[in-house]
Amino acid sequence: MKPIRKAIFPVAGLGTRFLPATKAMPKEMLPVVDRPLIQHVVDEAREAGIEHFIFVTGRNKGVIEDHFDRQFELELTLKERRKHSDLKLLASDLPGPGTTSFTRQQSPLGLGHAVWCARELVGNEPFALVLPDVLVQHSPGCLAQMIEAYRATKQNANVIAVEEVPADRIHQYGVVGVGKTKGNTFAITQMVEKPKREDAPSNLIITGRYILQPEIFDLLGTQEGGAGGEIQITDAMIRLAKTQPFYGVKFEGRSFDCGSKVGFLAANVAYALARDDIAPAFRKEIEELLGKK
Ligand code: G1P
Repeated sequence: MKPIRKAIFPVAGLGTRFLPATKAMPKEMLPVVDRPLIQHVVDEAREAGIEHFIFVTGRNKGVIEDHFDRQFELELTLKERRKHSDLKLLASDLPGPGTTSFTRQQSPLGLGHAVWCARELVGNEPFALVLPDVLVQHSPGCLAQMIEAYRATKQNANVIAVEEVPADRIHQYGVVGVGKTKGNTFAITQMVEKPKREDAPSNLIITGRYILQPEIFDLLGTQEGGAGGEIQITDAMIRLAKTQPFYGVKFEGRSFDCGSKVGFLAANVAYALARDDIAPAFRKEIEELLGKK
């Protein structure tokens, strides 16, 4: 069984749902409290033992590359002002030299196409796919839980994070069918991208974290457009499932769909309430706003 060393972060999306905030700034740089979305998911991947971070970017995304580089002027100023804790924070957030790679998705052809754009950087080994729109608040993180489940399968399997959603939201996601179950892990019997409510095999949706075997790349290379006319990762996974096992993991933790305004705002509230330095004052503000005081 090969270890999971690399993670792909697709960050080419236009972020139209957050205009005008995302006119000149990538949506992945929107902060949840004081860390950009992309930093939150990179944190989760590092905690899970990922060693190499592959970003599939697009036009206007250069600032993401800058974010994961050193900022000498800033460091110098912080040093002069003896802001040691800020310096320490910047240093601990920085991925090691040579552990990040950036490639571009030249046209917005879909998530499956974005993943395919990273094929040369991943090579012939299994990898994690982490969608920065989705935050999962839990320790250990969602990806760490999945890697544990992957190891427990003792095979070169594909593993997908899943969670239940109410019936009226099912059509927005990829949905899986449930087979033999052991603990929090089950064999996936079926997958479908953005089904109608009545066609969905369950209420378990794909949450934006995947462990995939490299054979997915050849399939993505020949994948035709699916839901919304886009090249869908789910459609290539359906083909891969004919020859390889797929497991679903019901992870622990609360997920936030930060691709939607409400999900993003809820994530900010939840992450702020989890911070010892902010929570007491913030809770007061919230209670006042809600008229509880
Ligand atoms: C993508 C996947 C979908 C998954 C979702 C999770 O959809 O195609 O299967 O459920 O992410 O957020 P998107 O949100 O890009 O439409």
